[in-house]
Amino acid sequence: MNLFFSTSRIIVTCSNRLSAYLQQEIVELGYKPVRVFKTGVELQGKLADCIRLNLNLRCASQVLYSLQEFKAYNAEELYKKLITIEWENILPGDGYFSISSNVSNDTITNNLFANVKVKDAIADRCREKTGSRPNSGPGLHGAVIHLYWKEDIAEIFLDTSGETLSKHGYRKIPGKAPMLESLAAATLLATKWDKKSPFVNPMCGSGTVAIEAALMATGRRPGLYRSNYAFMHLREYDEGLYEKEFNLLQEKVIAVPGLNIIATDISEDAINISKVNAGIAGVEELIDFSVCDFAETHIPQKEGGVIYFNPEYGDRLGVEEALQGTYKRMGDFLKQQCKGYFGYIFTGNLELAKKIGLKPGRRIEFFTSKIDCRLLEYELYAGSRVQEKIEA
Ligand SMILES: C[S@@+](CC[C@H](N)C(=O)[O-])C[C@H]1O[C@@H](n2cnc3c(N)ncnc32)[C@H](O)[C@@H]1O
Repeated sequence: MNLFFSTSRIIVTCSNRLSAYLQQEIVELGYKPVRVFKTGVELQGKLADCIRLNLNLRCASQVLYSLQEFKAYNAEELYKKLITIEWENILPGDGYFSISSNVSNDTITNNLFANVKVKDAIADRCREKTGSRPNSGPGLHGAVIHLYWKEDIAEIFLDTSGETLSKHGYRKIPGKAPMLESLAAATLLATKWDKKSPFVNPMCGSGTVAIEAALMATGRRPGLYRSNYAFMHLREYDEGLYEKEFNLLQEKVIAVPGLNIIATDISEDAINISKVNAGIAGVEELIDFSVCDFAETHIPQKEGGVIYFNPEYGDRLGVEEALQGTYKRMGDFLKQQCKGYFGYIFTGNLELAKKIGLKPGRRIEFFTSKIDCRLLEYELYAGSRVQEKIEA
């Protein structure tokens, strides 16, 4: 039985609050999710489907393919179940594997202990059946086995991704407080941008949001920028399956004549970093970069455009006070200079957000490294309709 053509449960994981956007991407790829939860989406599929998911998804972290779910009360029972799995047919004898886990079981006080039990079962099984065993260690560059163990229910997965998918491979220089690429992509999916109208990103930092916008508009998927995945290190892996999916990615890239993406930042270093990152992503020519205060950013006079800010949040008091003026100026700029646009401000500081002085139409919830964040949406009317102000 070749796992690449056997149907099983697939769990695609993501950062907290991204699953609605991940679900949307999975549906667009032609799959039917059977369950959506806070940090992931479940579907049915083959290992071959995991290749497509890994190469295409912008909002995902890992693509897990279930091998078996079973009862285990303690580490000894876990080991006894795991040694019955035909690991010698899953992992190449001369390969390399590592273990990751998500464990909450009363008998286990240290996740690493559970990982060692999984590793021992795999190594002992392979040694017994073939006389040798694949190497193992902490690196995620080879095959990865993932244990999900809650109380007495354990599930063992092939993590088909290895290194996280939430980084999209083009950002070689991170800059100051960069957004995770999967989060940036999800926030863009949450906006009303039509991928044709102007997209303006002042305070662009290392360029993540503008680059993700350019990638999305032109159909460039993360798989174009990455050449190693954990599924490539499984015994039954067939390079032809990957090449077919990779070629499909190349066919999905489209030209968008007149695409107008503008990215600015007050820091020259940030713009230089953005240009390098955009160059690696192959979209430098699609983004108009310049160094300036956000209020000097050129706003093309077209209906339907989107302007997206990701300002600093200021977690220290002095910094926060200084930022109050910046947030107020952003509100004034949106109201006076961006008529006919949808304005977005992504921030983790809800007090500072009040200084913007405009009433958001939507407050979309996100998380970034455990900070409760909002993407605030402002519809900036073009005509005589008065922008609703709120008291700061
Ligand atoms: C939180 S970072 C943006 C991070 C970005 N989203 C990324 O992924 O790299 C905020 C950026 O705002 C810039 N900035 C701060 N004040 C500014 C101002 N008045 N005008 C323009 N840019 C400003 C900073 O230089 C910094 O790069």
